[in-house]
Amino acid sequence: MVLPIVAYGDPVLRRTGAEIKKDYPGLQQLIDDMFETMEKSKGVGLAAPQVNKSIRLFIIDSSKMFDEEDKEEGLREVFINAKIIDESGDEWGYEEGCLSIPGIREDVYREETLLIQYYDRDFNFQEKKLTGLTARVVQHEFDHIEGILFIDHLKPLRKSLLKSRLENISKGKVSVEYKMKFPKK
Ligand code: NI
Repeated sequence: MVLPIVAYGDPVLRRTGAEIKKDYPGLQQLIDDMFETMEKSKGVGLAAPQVNKSIRLFIIDSSKMFDEEDKEEGLREVFINAKIIDESGDEWGYEEGCLSIPGIREDVYREETLLIQYYDRDFNFQEKKLTGLTARVVQHEFDHIEGILFIDHLKPLRKSLLKSRLENISKGKVSVEYKMKFPKK
């Protein structure tokens, strides 16, 4: 089932997600629904707070960001109760967007490499070292379960220039191709 994506301005996007246990009700269905929702909206990542669940769960599929000529293949994965153990390497800029903030794309600087521990959808413990675009997507989604949005990484002046557009998004005054829930509509 495709779920509505919560738009900018909803308090759920600002909460720190709670850890979950293996017996979290409806977990497997929620994960399937999140993949369906992400694919429908052509996203490469989706975090549970974006579908109105304040829990430490996010999914990514960075495989579509690469083509056959690239050395990397990308990663399709479920991250539960993730912890970033280390971030390293040079900060690099990349134009990010977010399904909860449609129509806005801005350069965000993040470190290149990431060591992350998490549980997968079967609750097997995993540790992975990620780099480049896949690390980027994970860093963006991990921020969501901490209540952080990509626009928070912008310089204050840049962010203030976006203020009225962000306000319009929260009111539903934005053109979007997928189902959303607007907090001020
Ligand atoms: Ni996002």
